[in-house]
Amino acid sequence: MKSGRVSQTALKVGLIVIALNEKVEWKTRLPQRLAELTERLILAAGVLGYGRRMISLNKKRWSIRLYEYFETKTPGTFEGIGERKIFMNEQVLAAIKAGAKQVLVLGAGFDTLCLRLAPQFPRVEFCEVDHPATSAAKAMGITQEGQPENMTLLAADLNETPLSVLMKKAGRWDTSAQSVVVAEGLFIYLTEEVVLQVFREVAACTGAGTWVAFSHGVMIKEHRFANAMLRLIGEPWLSSCTSADLPGYIGPGWSVIATQGAGSRRNLEAFAVAEKL
Ligand SMILES: C[S@@+](CC[C@H](N)C(=O)[O-])C[C@H]1O[C@@H](n2cnc3c(N)ncnc32)[C@H](O)[C@@H]1O
Repeated sequence: MKSGRVSQTALKVGLIVIALNEKVEWKTRLPQRLAELTERLILAAGVLGYGRRMISLNKKRWSIRLYEYFETKTPGTFEGIGERKIFMNEQVLAAIKAGAKQVLVLGAGFDTLCLRLAPQFPRVEFCEVDHPATSAAKAMGITQEGQPENMTLLAADLNETPLSVLMKKAGRWDTSAQSVVVAEGLFIYLTEEVVLQVFREVAACTGAGTWVAFSHGVMIKEHRFANAMLRLIGEPWLSSCTSADLPGYIGPGWSVIATQGAGSRRNLEAFAVAEKL
């Protein structure tokens, strides 16, 4: 991905969530305040082309029809994002109930999970990591919303900085605590080698019983048009795997304890939870 530029795919996911919230059936399904907060974070980031006018056009009926059309071509790119947001939210709530004391969101983009849940769980530590330009843009919105005391934003390129080094430096992160790590819409943008490294690094900076809730590409090569578009914007898809190949994709030391959407090979992404052994 192009360094120094706010992630276009992170902005796109944000717009999709805002548009999806315009559909009555989704308004009640999506986590509360998700769409409103996403809108405010994107506006506060002040990225050229992502102002009030764009957000308003994005909510129009024709725009939603366009998203629905693209979803027929690449399943999982509109309502699938809503399913992904719900899955990650539920897994984090379940992990906290099961004893997780820390939440780490990797490649957070304009996601609102930490901002929404940190005030609800003041004894849990929340942390986000993203590429420096995207992290800086997100930070403007977080400051505007009021950064919860138990929430930290870290900027790093996961291709270059080992996660365990970053988290040890972060100060407030307890490397022996049971945690839950979210990697939503991230691994598809990392090579298989880097995905393996991220799982190794998560294992090195978290305690027993830690979960990683993640999405992964399934058959990315089949979505030729979308692949071409992403290469064009400089954020190409780099890895995917079927659910049968998941153990090799995430590497040793992890056990897959839940999957969703793994049955359909047409869907761009499937979701899973891995537990640290
Ligand atoms: C498709 S967006 C998903 C954003 C967010 N997780 C969501 O679902 O709303 C991908 C995110 O991964 C981040 N990302 C991609 N490659 C990265 C890397 N090497 N290091 C850190 N973050 C990265 C991008 O900056 C972007 O925010």
